[in-house]
Amino acid sequence: VNLLVRGSGGNKTTHMMYGIMHEDINNSGDGGIYAELIQNRAFQATEQYPVSLDSWLSVNGAKLAVKQLTKPLSAALPNSLNVVPGSGKKTGFANTGFWGMDVKVQKYTGSFYVKGAYSGQFTASLQSNLTGETFGSVDIKSRSVANEWVQHEFTLVPKKNAPNSNNTFAITFDTAGAKQGSLDFNLISLFPPTYKNRPNGLRVDLMEAIAELKPTFFRLPGGNMLEGLTTKTWWKWNETIGPLKDRPGMAGVWNYQVTTGLGLVEYMEWCDDLNMEPIVAVWDGLALDGNYISKEDLGPYIQSALDEIEFLTGSVETKWGKVRASLGHPKPWKVNYVEIGNEDWLAGRPTAYETYKQYRFKMFQDAFTKKYPHIQIIASPSVFDDMVIPVPAAGDYHPYLRPDEFVENFNKFDHLTKDNLTLIGEYAAVHPNGGIDWAGNLHPWPWWGGAVSEAIFLISAERNSDRVIGATYAPGLRNLNRWQWSITLMQHAADPALTTKSVSWHVSRLFSNHIIRETLPVSTDANFGPLYYVAGTSEKGTSIWKGAVYNSTEPVDVSLQFECHQKNDKATLTVLTGPTDPYGYNDPWTQVNVVKEKTTTIKADDKGKFSFSLPGLSVAVLETEGK
Ligand code: AHR
Repeated sequence: VNLLVRGSGGNKTTHMMYGIMHEDINNSGDGGIYAELIQNRAFQATEQYPVSLDSWLSVNGAKLAVKQLTKPLSAALPNSLNVVPGSGKKTGFANTGFWGMDVKVQKYTGSFYVKGAYSGQFTASLQSNLTGETFGSVDIKSRSVANEWVQHEFTLVPKKNAPNSNNTFAITFDTAGAKQGSLDFNLISLFPPTYKNRPNGLRVDLMEAIAELKPTFFRLPGGNMLEGLTTKTWWKWNETIGPLKDRPGMAGVWNYQVTTGLGLVEYMEWCDDLNMEPIVAVWDGLALDGNYISKEDLGPYIQSALDEIEFLTGSVETKWGKVRASLGHPKPWKVNYVEIGNEDWLAGRPTAYETYKQYRFKMFQDAFTKKYPHIQIIASPSVFDDMVIPVPAAGDYHPYLRPDEFVENFNKFDHLTKDNLTLIGEYAAVHPNGGIDWAGNLHPWPWWGGAVSEAIFLISAERNSDRVIGATYAPGLRNLNRWQWSITLMQHAADPALTTKSVSWHVSRLFSNHIIRETLPVSTDANFGPLYYVAGTSEKGTSIWKGAVYNSTEPVDVSLQFECHQKNDKATLTVLTGPTDPYGYNDPWTQVNVVKEKTTTIKADDKGKFSFSLPGLSVAVLETEGK
């Protein structure tokens, strides 16, 4: 295939082509990127997920019970753990973590609240759940008194690394010392070192893997989590901020209770740490059960969404800006993008969708345009979801497709007009070609053929990146011990050795590490397929070409010339290839990476042409060394 990249005539592209989204699915938040090690730390419960002793064990015969005391720790956390001492000198309780805990010689930061007269020492320890071996412990002098909740804080540095993650965290106390016969505990928390050492922060290995993707935007909270199971249990942003003892948590939409320890402020700190532009999704009155708020009742919810943006961006003189400042963030954040809802178009909720088209979207759009005219509003459907999106709003497109469908739709974005700004707020290849659709299970893991089709989809978006705002794979994370959605960018468990970058992660990283700022037209003697490509220039003026080969048993020979480059110029060519089996995947249990990455320096010939060959099912980026 002969390709000539023209020197001008393309588009200025979006400044945020590659981003991320997050919602608590697959224990991707609690038990995932939120670094808290204690599961069920505050006995949070909702109608959907009743209170339980899940993840708690008795130590030395202590009798454990969850109680609702007349004097709870807080209105948000009404349940606590009552511990009646058992036998032995020390007695207490242990937590099994999110299916284990990683124990290393590093500083753990912990705290717990206790109520009841006790004058001895508490011992916090990390030990093997298999052998009982203690890896580290610390004594904490009790300040506990009858009738008051008193917080105890400690740090703990184990003396040795645990050989595996089957470990527990225990708090014990002197059996004889509990003067009223029992003690009450709540909000028992333990953090390992976090990314950038933020208190209440995020897990280092997962954040580093995300940072490698150089994401430029963060859709928060993404997905169904925003909507909630019912119109009473949506993601109430104001219940996710402030001290942990004042956060009630929420009925998660993916079959488990969510702590909301990873709340709105933590999302914004995540943006700060990775230098990402926030796309803040606000609740628009639709819940997952199909119920929605009527026109007459929508006012307070619109006000809540406006308050959320005031909380994030208002000066300290404003009501909500003052609250933000009181939480340690006097400097307002910048919010340039707000999305109204999530997937209002989704099949099965036709009546609710009609209300979105008729009034819900418009009422939010009007209110935001009035108060925050600079904000780019994004509707939760896209123009491909049977909605005429009123200019200047953008839409949000969520293709979860088969590989062939991504490739067949290569021209889809070419038809977007300048009035059809589109965010790709979620995408992934989820079913194999010819495989079962949503009625059945998703494919077990992201697979190589799927990842190549995603590359072709991303190329189709980049070709139109003056109208495509950006793209994010979804969902991002999956805890290997409990998950609801198999296809994710990464997988993880308590043991960091199991953290896995999927084949799709490798494709995303290659593309997001070579950003085109201005696309350029390409003249050719061939049609798209089996080779798909996009070309342009980077911020620093180098030339970039991205390509992928699909459905070809033979390698594709490419002769690539840039009008603006001279003979003998040099370029770096990076080619990703996969396993012989297109269904090959990166298996967390074996940690074999099936993606082969080869980087070579190639030189243009005396006519300025770069020549190379790309095998079937491959993804490549060529970037010139000079301008
Ligand atoms: O990413 C998983 C789910 O897919 C999201 O929660 C939802 O927006 C979409 O349907």
